[in-house]
Amino acid sequence: MLFKKSIPTLIAEAAESGEGTLKRTLSSGGLVALGVGAIIGAGLFSLTGIAAAENAGPAVTLSFIVAALGCAFAGLCYAEFAAMIPVAGSAYTYSYATMGEFVAWIIGWDLVLEYALGAATVASSWSQYFNQLLLVFGIHLPESLLHGPWEGGIVNVPAIIIVCLLSLLLMRGTRESSLVNNVLVVVKVAVVLVFIALGWSFINPENHVPFIPANEGEQLVKSGQMGFFDFFNSDYFGHFGISGIMRGAGVVFFAFIGFDAVSTAAQEAKNPQKGMPIGIIGSLLVCTVLYVLFSYVMTGLEHYTMFAGDAKPVATAFEKTGYTFLNTALIIAILTGYTSVMLVMLLGQSRVFYTMSKDGLLPKFFSDLSKRQTPWKTNVIFMVFVSIFTGFVPVSDLGHMVSIGTLFAFVLVCIGILVLRKTNPEAPRPFRTPLVPLVPVLGVVVCVAMMASLPVQSWERLAIWMALGVGVYFLYGKRHSKIRKVAAQKNGSPQ
Ligand code: ALA
Repeated sequence: MLFKKSIPTLIAEAAESGEGTLKRTLSSGGLVALGVGAIIGAGLFSLTGIAAAENAGPAVTLSFIVAALGCAFAGLCYAEFAAMIPVAGSAYTYSYATMGEFVAWIIGWDLVLEYALGAATVASSWSQYFNQLLLVFGIHLPESLLHGPWEGGIVNVPAIIIVCLLSLLLMRGTRESSLVNNVLVVVKVAVVLVFIALGWSFINPENHVPFIPANEGEQLVKSGQMGFFDFFNSDYFGHFGISGIMRGAGVVFFAFIGFDAVSTAAQEAKNPQKGMPIGIIGSLLVCTVLYVLFSYVMTGLEHYTMFAGDAKPVATAFEKTGYTFLNTALIIAILTGYTSVMLVMLLGQSRVFYTMSKDGLLPKFFSDLSKRQTPWKTNVIFMVFVSIFTGFVPVSDLGHMVSIGTLFAFVLVCIGILVLRKTNPEAPRPFRTPLVPLVPVLGVVVCVAMMASLPVQSWERLAIWMALGVGVYFLYGKRHSKIRKVAAQKNGSPQ
């Protein structure tokens, strides 16, 4: 038998007031800011140049559009769920209502990869920019304190410090965190806009020609000299041409991760029915427009072949404009941008575990609230967990884990919409995903295609993490599940 939570029960739980619940303080605008805060970060500032140099050339703008499409399909599904079931917990809660407790557990466990490891990934990259800023002031940190042992160092100290500071901020409360976040988002968006506006007039049209650099392998396939599968397995695949745009989409997908974090704050939204779809779709839209313009300007300022590497491309692009003073401003904006991404990810993580603990699937201390009504013990535990990963594990390994974990969650949410339309066709839906089943099916197809483009190693790690999760579920979650206990009492029999 499937143990599911009914939607009215979920909403009634969310409506409880007084002690033991989270405060409703976020407006629709605040939710869009939360989304943009979670989205613009390491992906835009670090991966745009890499995807242009290695995969797509100036057509990285098209890669952004492909990745945005995949996210939009999933986002439309998230929005239906988030408006219908406006409670904390995001994809975890939705699957509890549609596909039962076990799938819900799987997705809740999987979200640790997206949120906790996502924060760790961004913190790791943050520390490199922080180091650049220190260099402007003539301060040199030893390399061994900027990288973990697998990257020739000892431990990434600045990354650990920023994770700890942000976790402490979250313990102070969502309202305070939201205020800080709004300020950070304004700074970050302002700098992206300044970059676009100033850079536009310095675009050299020659840098955009050819817009889609040729891929020799694709030409060999066209002329019949190479079979498609040989091409797929060859080094040609993913380096320019159409396949380059597709692989580029897989790379820049990371830049869109985070819009779903809006739904984790549903229980803190003032008017979740209206705010959730606006927050999710609105933030996705804002970011897509900014990304396309940003990457267009960036590849217009410099030839794409100059963009190999990490932080440099954005900064050198500014040098071309003559506004070199903006380099330091840009580093500061990047640091603030990353900070808000980490804040939302850490917030999302603590809310998912809070909800899982409320359901009895995790020990009670994960949902103990402080006087300020924040799940502070969860914050402390993830402060330690995220610090360990960001301090010691290489950033690329973290990034792949985040992408595969997130895409897996997206796939389950899209399937969830299909299930819910069958099982609860009459339930009130303040926001309906358009063109069902087309949109969720396309969501599954695009996300699975992006998962397929990731290295085999990340699939293996995903499997190990999930196997661990299944173990914890059978040893703890299943035995303490509140829904199972209630069902057992009703039946007068053990589970
Ligand atoms: N989208 C987030 C970033 O780019 C994860 O940093």
